Amino acid sequence: MRALFVYCLSLSASVWGQSSIVDAYVASESPIAKAGVLANIGPSGSKSAGAKAGVVIASPSTSDPNYLYTWTRDSSLVFKALIDQYTLGQDTTLRTEIDNFVSAEAAVQQVSNPSGTVSTGGLGEPKFNIDLSAFTGDWGRPQRDGPALRATALITYANWLIADGNTSYVSSTVWPIIKLDLGYVVTSWNQTGFDLWEEISSSSFFTTAVQHRSLREGATLASALGDQSLATQYRTQADNVLCFLQSYWNPTNFFMTSNTGGGRSGKDANTALASIHTFDPAAGCDAVTFQPCSDKALSSLKVYVDAFRSIYSVNSGIASNAAVATGRYPEDVYMGGNPWYLTTAAVAEQLYDAIIVWNRTGSIEVTSISLAFFQQFSSSVTVGVYASSTTTYSDLLAAVQTFADGFLAINAKYTPSGGGLAEQFSRSNGTALSAVDLTWSYAATLTAFGARAGVVSASWGASGLKVPSSCSTGPGGGGSTVSITFNEYATTVSGENIYLTGSIDALQDWSTSTALLLSADKYPTWSITLNLPASTSFQYKYIRKVNGTVTWESDPNRQFTTPASGSSVINDSWR
Ligand code: NOJ
Ligand code: NOJ
Repeated sequence: MRALFVYCLSLSASVWGQSSIVDAYVASESPIAKAGVLANIGPSGSKSAGAKAGVVIASPSTSDPNYLYTWTRDSSLVFKALIDQYTLGQDTTLRTEIDNFVSAEAAVQQVSNPSGTVSTGGLGEPKFNIDLSAFTGDWGRPQRDGPALRATALITYANWLIADGNTSYVSSTVWPIIKLDLGYVVTSWNQTGFDLWEEISSSSFFTTAVQHRSLREGATLASALGDQSLATQYRTQADNVLCFLQSYWNPTNFFMTSNTGGGRSGKDANTALASIHTFDPAAGCDAVTFQPCSDKALSSLKVYVDAFRSIYSVNSGIASNAAVATGRYPEDVYMGGNPWYLTTAAVAEQLYDAIIVWNRTGSIEVTSISLAFFQQFSSSVTVGVYASSTTTYSDLLAAVQTFADGFLAINAKYTPSGGGLAEQFSRSNGTALSAVDLTWSYAATLTAFGARAGVVSASWGASGLKVPSSCSTGPGGGGSTVSITFNEYATTVSGENIYLTGSIDALQDWSTSTALLLSADKYPTWSITLNLPASTSFQYKYIRKVNGTVTWESDPNRQFTTPASGSSVINDSWR
């Protein structure tokens, strides 16, 4: 009894300490982050000399890495945050910046570049020089999230302008930009492209999720502007995209697999970022649109966060249910493969968004999918719906709030004095690394702070959506795809890994060098979940690799035919 009492006291003392640390961080870092964003926007930003009006530089860093370019993804996410601040009345001084952004994006859409012209795929170009000329070097292109994210930022602005009585500026200037971007999404969502980290060419959950959102809110705007046929076109494709979005779910390990290719574990900040950037406060805890408090999004978040507990020294000694520093994905090696401020902030933001909705609806639902997430905080919690009058509800809400604050406390701990936010901080000692003053780090910090304070941006129409019963045209050449989990029971020696290769493109056409790495999370069962073409027969084998030596399973080749829809689990054993 006494021990328990002392424990509770010390817990509440440390929790109290943490929330005041985060309060202090919010107070000191907010103005720095806001100024950090504005310094990186042309023409008058103090760190962005040479950038045209409305152009967001990714960072002023010119070497290791050189980020003095403008990325459509970074710029659109940054301007979405500024447009929210403006349209919610939090900062009425931003109008000129926003109108400059509108002009800059209208211009850059027309710039021919290595991905094409405005009508032949050029909108998928990921980055431009800061004078808005084309960047012609090698790059992972196209990246198909950019047009969708830009459309979302501009639709938010357009909706506000219409409500403010300025439909003419929308029709003449903003809507034409949005229409080009949504036209690109309509024709290309079912093609592969590079993921948000610019490394894997396949289909990517974040990209699909933001594409879905853009089409859905684009349909509503088209209707408001009287274009019913475009509205129908957008809505039809939004239904197809929503259908495809469901296929990323890994039904064995309960998380959204981030990419359909790439041969990684699939655990990636991609999914938390998708959840916060498609948050709709009116949609409750809907799992179909992966809302922050949905069972699938909470389970994915836990799987993602846990992937970083043992790989970074800065996380050692932290309790297995407390916040840790997170990065892009556990296999990352870019610039040392460290934790990122913006991904750690995204985890906090997803949790704060969840809290906003629980507070609104007055209940927390625990399902078999989210059970492991909630049991981190209370091992006795069971599947059920807990109303706000219950102690289970208040205990869980408080625990999630503490967990969320923990992620911001980590960022606070590793923010250098002066408050500048780079891209990464060292996995071994937390010192800031890679690009300095990353605009996206600042914007991600501001939106996480906003969510902590209960700020919500406008709803985009996610509530009550149903997945159509049949999906048409998934990526990869017209056919739909199905989710297939491969489990291979194989004992291995240290340093040895199990890979999958086979007779179709999605299985790397029998290559051993690009064969797909299976996850050892359930060792000795090795596992991977892939989206494969539906109703397709193929052959495959597992291989082992250790120190560059490849060993094939014995003959004959294994054989499988994918179903027309749904998902399958294949259980094999090394032979
Ligand atoms: C630069 C990209 O910006 C980054 O995302 C990627 O990890 C590295 N290239 C390595 O491919
Ligand atoms: C690398 C990141 O992986 C990518 O997402 C980002 O767009 C660029 N850096 C620029 O910040």
